[in-house]
Parts: sequence; structure tokens; C-alpha cells
Amino acid sequence: MRAVEIIEKKRDGVELTKDEISFFIQGYTHGDIPDYQVSAWAMAVLLNGMTPAETTELTLAMADSGEQLDLSGIVDIVIDKHSSGGVGDKTSIVVVPLVRACGLPVGKMSGRGLGFSGGTLDKLESIPGFRTDLTKDAFLEQLSSLGMVLSGQSMDLAPADGKLYALRDVTGTVPSIPLIASSIMSKKIAAGAQGIVLDVKTGNGAFMKTLSEARELASLMVSIGELSGREVIAVLSDMNQPLGEAVGNALEMKEAILTLMGKGPEDFVAHCLEIASHMLVLGKRAGSKTEAYQMAQDALESGSGLEYLRKLVAAQGGDVSVVDHPEKLPEAPHKEIISAPKPGFVHQVHARLVGETAVVLGAGRSKKGDAIDPAVGISVLVKVGDQVEAGQPLCVVHARDDVSLTHAQESLTAAIKIDDDPLEPLPLFYGLVTSD
Ligand code: URA
Repeated sequence: MRAVEIIEKKRDGVELTKDEISFFIQGYTHGDIPDYQVSAWAMAVLLNGMTPAETTELTLAMADSGEQLDLSGIVDIVIDKHSSGGVGDKTSIVVVPLVRACGLPVGKMSGRGLGFSGGTLDKLESIPGFRTDLTKDAFLEQLSSLGMVLSGQSMDLAPADGKLYALRDVTGTVPSIPLIASSIMSKKIAAGAQGIVLDVKTGNGAFMKTLSEARELASLMVSIGELSGREVIAVLSDMNQPLGEAVGNALEMKEAILTLMGKGPEDFVAHCLEIASHMLVLGKRAGSKTEAYQMAQDALESGSGLEYLRKLVAAQGGDVSVVDHPEKLPEAPHKEIISAPKPGFVHQVHARLVGETAVVLGAGRSKKGDAIDPAVGISVLVKVGDQVEAGQPLCVVHARDDVSLTHAQESLTAAIKIDDDPLEPLPLFYGLVTSD
């Protein structure tokens, strides 16, 4: 087999076989096929697409390119969740202790924020002492003893994806739906998932800007699940405005704690219960979605989810007192309210612009490895459709210094639009994609 023939086939729109895909991915992983050939192939995939069968073979070949985690001796079923990323998305911090409180163990590997999209690890690290760099052995030990882990990725899972993602980033081939689907699913499969709840976001603060693109990505990932023997369900959710109120690491950590105390913002609570209940059904802890929803709600109201967050923080070396006193989390020195300039209805709280403002304040990074400031961010106090009075607070900026504060005030004034005519709130969800 020759790499050039595989590139030519893809250029001409011909479906690749399992053997060709596996030859190509193995060759790339081991350095036998150079970046320039893989770049040409990735562009051919972007232009000509891939069938679900090809995408599944690509996913499995990438999952197989490094170590694979086997959790079968530790838990009876391995259920994972994945969010396609967004602004104010602190769902995993609530959902992992919540489903654990309902009897479903979860060993979850999360990521860091990049660009305007936040990352779970950065939020967790706003708790003093909290460790996210668990070794593989420590990860397995904690999953076995506590039934719950939220950590960074310690092993080289799906290294072919790591290489390919970096190449896509510089060759204009990131927005290929088969390449995105195989990238996400290969890491989940390598981490041992048997069932996966995907939270595919759509809107200006998401990877997928339109609902039809989000649905296409979700359908392809559900097909990959079906063809590879994993149960996958995708929730299509809104990311035109931030999820919940808090955007910024310690602010989001605080909101996650308040949510587990039963004091979370309505949209975020509903989001967490939706994701948790699908996980409980896939994990066979509930016979129906309705039953699962009730279980998750009970765990929230009884405080058992919060109790599991305490256990998680203790197990990973964090200051547990923060869970009962979230006011101990880092706070920014400057807080400034932005108020409505006129009465009316909120027409826009532009998620991407809010996320970008948070980055400029210091909450996110422009490139991998940049330092972040846990204390800064934005508390967004209104949602699209809300009626507001002139002078009513729209959001609070939490800034480290005057320069970033002034910049944030300007960009948030452009991000939040008030107009005269009433309009409907944005939906939280746009539907489900399942294999049935
Ligand atoms: N997230 C991933 O893991 N991979 C992609 O290609 C896009 C988003």
C-alpha cells in the first residue's frame, strides 16, 4: 500500500477501506507518513467527506494508536460524557458527583480552556490544592475506592488524534465534520467508554454555528457509536448565550457548588439534570428518562450530590472547606456593574463575545500553556427575552486591573443588546439524536 494512492482515492471521492485507513493512521503515528501527505489527505476529507463506515474505521484506528484504558475490572459499566465546548459550561463539575450520588461511578478525563471556550480542569483548579494531574494508577485507585474521578488526561490516549489535530489546526482542516467526530470519539473510546452522552452545542459560542451542522455532527457520532458497539446519545443544546450566570474559573466553580446546594440558575440546573439523567439511563441505574430525572433531582435536593463533591475535592487534595464556603474562592479586586442603558427586552447576550471578554480579562488562554487568572470573569445576570428597566444590572465584570476592566465594559456593552419589542426566550435544547 502507498500513502499517495490513499490520498488520490480520497481526492476522487472513493470510499477508503478499513485496511487503508488503518495503514494510513499507523504510518502517521509512527512517523512513516509525513505531515505533508496527511495534510493533503485531510483537505481531501474536508472537501469530499467520509461515510459513517469510513469515519468509524478512522475513529477506531486513532483510538488504537496508543494505550487504551480498561476499566472493566473496576466498574460494571463505563459511562462518559462530552461537551463540544462553550461559554459558562461547568456541567461536569455538577454532573459527576450527582450521578455518583445516584450510584453510577464515573472516571472522567477533562480538558483545559482554549480560546473563548472554558475548560473543566481550570475551573477545578480554582479550589486551592485541587490536583488534576493524577497518574494513571492514582486515577484507577480513586475510581476503585471512591467511584469518581475528574482529572486531566495522564496517558497518551489516541496519540494519532493529537498529531492530526495539531496538523488540522494549521492546514485549515479543523471544520471537517468526520474529522471532528472521529477526533472526539477516538479519545472517548480509548478511555474505555461503553456509553457516551454527547452534549453538542450550537450557536455563536459553539464549534457548530448552525443547528443543521450540530445535528450532522451528532448523527455522525451516534452512527460511530452504533457501528463500534457503543451506546451514544446526543443532546443538542443552545450556546447562543452563556450557560448559567458565571463565566470565569472561580466564578464557575462557585456556581457549580451553589447548584449542588440547590441554588443554581434555572437554565444551568435544567441542563445538568438533563445530562445526568441520560447518563443514568445509559448506565442502567434507571429504567426510564423520567425515573432518572427524578433520581438526579432528588440527589440535588437532598444534598447527596454536594456530599460527593466534598468527597471528590478531598480525594484530589483540594481545600474541602470551599465546598461549604464558596466565598473562600479567589475573588477579583475590581467589580463593576454594567447596567441597562434603556428599558426594553434583552435581544442578545452574545456567548462568543462574552467568552472572548473573559479571555481578555485573564480567565482564558490565547495559546496552549498560557497562565490564567482564576478570579476574573463575568457574572451575566440576564437572559435573552428578559424584560429590563433602565439602570437594571445586566452583568458584573470581575477584573484584576483598570485596563482590562475598561476593555471588558466596552466589549460587554456590544455583546448585550436591549431592544423595544418583546421576544421569546431561547430554547435550552433543540432535541436529541439517538440510534433508534
Ligand atoms: N474537539 C476535539 O476533540 N476534536 C476536534 O476536532 C474538535 C473539537
